[in-house]
Amino acid sequence: MPYNFHILTVTHKTTHTDDIANFIVPIDEPVLLANRLKELKAEYQLNELMYLATCNRVMFFFSGRLQPQRDFILSFFKFVNPKAARLSEEVILEKVAVHSQEDALRHLYKVAASVDSMVIGEREIFRQLREAYDFCYQEGLTGDNIRLAMRSVVETAKEVYAQTRIGEKPVSIVSLAFQKLLEFKLSRQARFLMVGAGKTNTMFADFMLKQGYNNVHVFNRTLEKANILAEKLEGKSHPLSDLPKHKEGFDALVVCTGSVKPVVTPDLYEKILGNDAEHKVLIDLSLPQNIDKEIARLFDCSYVGIEGLRQLAKQNMAFRLGEVNKANDIIEKRLKSFNMIFRERQIERAMSHLPHEIKSIRTHAMDKVFKNELDKLDEDARDLVERMMEYMEKRCIGIPMVAIKDAYKKIHKGLAEEYQQEKKELKS
Ligand SMILES: NC(=O)c1ccc[n+]([C@@H]2O[C@H](COP(=O)([O-])OP(=O)(O)OC[C@H]3O[C@@H](n4cnc5c(N)ncnc54)[C@H](OP(=O)(O)O)[C@@H]3O)[C@@H](O)[C@H]2O)c1
Repeated sequence: MPYNFHILTVTHKTTHTDDIANFIVPIDEPVLLANRLKELKAEYQLNELMYLATCNRVMFFFSGRLQPQRDFILSFFKFVNPKAARLSEEVILEKVAVHSQEDALRHLYKVAASVDSMVIGEREIFRQLREAYDFCYQEGLTGDNIRLAMRSVVETAKEVYAQTRIGEKPVSIVSLAFQKLLEFKLSRQARFLMVGAGKTNTMFADFMLKQGYNNVHVFNRTLEKANILAEKLEGKSHPLSDLPKHKEGFDALVVCTGSVKPVVTPDLYEKILGNDAEHKVLIDLSLPQNIDKEIARLFDCSYVGIEGLRQLAKQNMAFRLGEVNKANDIIEKRLKSFNMIFRERQIERAMSHLPHEIKSIRTHAMDKVFKNELDKLDEDARDLVERMMEYMEKRCIGIPMVAIKDAYKKIHKGLAEEYQQEKKELKS
């Protein structure tokens, strides 16, 4: 099938995520980025171009040229990013994966359905892909072929997320920790102490916000960062050195810092606990552990640590992996139907001149061939002939389109039955 679709991509599968930056278009500002992509499209004579860059992948999806070969790939990435130009040719070729024709589409479906993701089943990539398309479409970088492909990609990904359980069961440590916290059924007024204001606690805070937990005191070595996190949670901020003086009590303690030794020692814990004998929830997302192990032994509390969560994350990931085969089945089925959609569209395009031609035949007949006879008719008869001609014109335009679509529907039905048959045979 001559789509002439190609993908050049660098992902977490071929390179360290930090090195992906060498292959992106190094421009953030949207107008400048669009201009650079237009230059790229012109330089390599691409008919259409779509560009996606995330922290785990960069992808150039284009149509309209022959299979990209070694020289093309090298020249392309040297044009894209001066940092790539400083890498050896072998390194570039090792990191760049090429997908062409049906395989390019298959890859796109897999990306959208999150089958190709670092964390399988994370839907974020689906949103990023749609945003990337909207941007490229609005900038006039894409055309009818990529539009068709993306329509099918969106439908396919939606089907995968609806028909499989690929996105179920959390696999990130932070979301698993928050799920554990929910199991304790703390009230929305529960008092939280957060120690650390880095990326991990900020992610945890996002979950807290969604569930309406905002009775929070944030303690951090650098007060400015504590301020930012506390503001997000509408809580209060303090320097870490003030933690031993905290006398307002707590129900849950969430600790995550980069310290290599426990920040919350039994001594400190006793101070912030005071005379409170209630059961506490302790969540420690740091590695190594930042809440001293002795605390769980000495005090009435439930401890949620990273080791247990990792085990759960592994189990959940194994579950998601088990859903990949189902997702791939859906993708293969959709690939087959895309072939039909693409062919239909090509015929539509090839026939787009028909209405114009039929109209000009009508004009020619009325103005030249039958002009003398028509001139002799009275006004009512002439009006009737004109209306009949107009009616014929409209009906004639529709006939070939409907006939071709019907023929394709029949072939399509045949293919769908063939596919169901193959599936049955595979199962038996
Ligand atoms: N990101 C994850 O998904 C993930 C998953 C599992 C485990 N972790 C663990 O989470 C911990 C922090 O990760 P992060 O991504 O949040 O890092 P981060 O964004 O760099 O933040 C580090 C936090 O730790 C504080 N900190 C660093 N050294 C400290 C010390 N010696 N004493 C007291 N506070 C200190 C920092 O305070 P300042 O603001 O003052 O610098 C900051 O609040 C690490 O132990 C990491 O292994 C992260």
